[in-house]
Amino acid sequence: MKNDSKKIKVGVVGLRMGGEHLTAYLKSDKYEVVGICDIDEQLLDRKAKESNAPQVTKDYMAIINNPEIELVSIATPDHLHAEQCIKALNAGKHVLAEKPLALKLEECKDIIKAADASQGTFMIGQVCRFAPGFKMAKELIENGMIGDLFFIESEYAHDYETCPGWENWRKDHAIRRNGVLGGGCHAVDLLRWIGGDVEEVTAFANHKMMPEWPEPDTTIANLKFCNNGIIGKVFVSISVQRPYTMRSVFYGSAGTIVCDNTSPSIQLFSHKIPGTRGFAELPVNIASHNISGEVDYLYKVLKEGKQRFEK
Ligand SMILES: NC(=O)c1ccc[n+]([C@@H]2O[C@H](COP(=O)([O-])OP(=O)(O)OC[C@H]3O[C@@H](n4cnc5c(N)ncnc54)[C@H](O)[C@@H]3O)[C@@H](O)[C@H]2O)c1
Repeated sequence: MKNDSKKIKVGVVGLRMGGEHLTAYLKSDKYEVVGICDIDEQLLDRKAKESNAPQVTKDYMAIINNPEIELVSIATPDHLHAEQCIKALNAGKHVLAEKPLALKLEECKDIIKAADASQGTFMIGQVCRFAPGFKMAKELIENGMIGDLFFIESEYAHDYETCPGWENWRKDHAIRRNGVLGGGCHAVDLLRWIGGDVEEVTAFANHKMMPEWPEPDTTIANLKFCNNGIIGKVFVSISVQRPYTMRSVFYGSAGTIVCDNTSPSIQLFSHKIPGTRGFAELPVNIASHNISGEVDYLYKVLKEGKQRFEK
């Protein structure tokens, strides 16, 4: 899709998490919100007042068929992503979709096929790549501050019972959404972003804490990366009895980084820090959902041309 004008015209489908997309577009001078969609009338009404969007609809096809709209942001429940993304891509729209891509492998492949065939650009919103603490960790690693990585770990540890409204499609036995796909994909993506592709995985899961939910609530996976013999670990639980955390640790030959997306600093232990016994607490902004960073990045990609993969 050709976009010569400065602002990209966007439609947002699904307005809960998508409400954060909407806010980011409204705050940005790079986008113009042309349409919003949700099947929840009250929410739609509230967001219509907040955004003054010219098109307000309960039918996502009306967003996709709006010739003015260049980009469709999709933030509906996971099991709807494939159908909605594929329709938007087939219509030649750019698409920013919330994670996870989809809940079934075949659906993921179908989305990739549609993205390959489309005039539009497709981006999956892996928002941890825009969290200041994780971005800083990656930069420090790339600048050699902890030497060669040998062990990396991340976790998505949540208690879904403390999240109002999450006993919805997430708990539906027919949909079979699990914590690894739903939230653990953040931790997996983070490790792949920093450590590269994974060659081999072994995993165990149990279902002790939330037996009434459709899938195991707790999983541990050991990973062997393709790069330089790095090994790693991903812990995912949707039933931890503590506040949400995505604590991640990167162990290298010259130091270690301990970081997350909810603390005001990250910890750097490094042989390369002079005079401080090799330790520094580095302040960062807390922005676990930096959707503004995500849409700024997308704007750059759209203005610079299609890129399929980004490490
Ligand atoms: N990036 C993150 O950190 C993050 C955080 C939370 C959720 N998510 C993802 O965002 C997506 C949405 O999650 P949520 O927490 O907002 O879920 P939710 O169930 O709270 O909200 C989904 C919204 O989509 C609307 N909707 C459902 N079907 C629709 C349809 N056919 N057309 C239009 N609107 C429809 C619902 O009315 C609701 O307002 C999910 O894929 C979820 O995994 C990502």
